[in-house]
Amino acid sequence: MRLDKYLADMGVGTRSEVKRLIRKGFVTIEGTICKKAEEQIKDGDLVEVEKSPIVYVEQEYYMLYKPAGVLSATRDRNERTVVDLIESRRRKDLFPVGRLDRDTEGLLLITNDGELAHRLLSPKKHVGKVYFVILNGKITKEQITCVESGIELEAGVVTLPASLKVLESRDEKSEVEITIYEGKFHQVKRMFEAVGIKVIYLKRLSMGTLVLDPRLKRGEYRALTEEEIEEIKRN
Ligand code: URA
Repeated sequence: MRLDKYLADMGVGTRSEVKRLIRKGFVTIEGTICKKAEEQIKDGDLVEVEKSPIVYVEQEYYMLYKPAGVLSATRDRNERTVVDLIESRRRKDLFPVGRLDRDTEGLLLITNDGELAHRLLSPKKHVGKVYFVILNGKITKEQITCVESGIELEAGVVTLPASLKVLESRDEKSEVEITIYEGKFHQVKRMFEAVGIKVIYLKRLSMGTLVLDPRLKRGEYRALTEEEIEEIKRN
């Protein structure tokens, strides 16, 4: 890889900014000043900018506890996005794997690994996603059966069977956990709406093998562990 791309990928600056740094002699490879932006970096080369080593990190994986009110997008002119919450040299490459509605909270995987994202989001893969849901009333047996067996959300759009665990069901509200295996637009809200009950709070707890770390507070994130990365790649 070219030296200027290596440095720009690692967030040292834009392509023209890093070219300037290189020209001015601030960059060394294996301890020797290199003034050529097109110089090829080999695996294991020590690249330093003003004596600080710049290690090339290919792929990054973060779990974010998405708070309500933040957009599931990479960038937006007017609004804060989930990627804005992540401090990373590679921020320009990062994107959320799938979307949560603005008012939905919980687990969001943020990465620059397009292949993994593609696999996790593929409708053929049926990766399970678990949500904690608060509903605006009691949930009946019939409603549960209906949600679990798959519902027609609109003409020709039928959900896959889901599973429901009722944690609490009272006249004023119910709390449930639902596992769905696809990711249609506003899916959970629409599934309950279709049986006449309204979602008043929604939080994603897990996606495949990846479980939201209970130590994270809203808006916080952490890098995935090696083990979590390996497991999610096996989904
Ligand atoms: N289902 C919804 O309705 N909204 C979300 O954000 C995620 C799943």
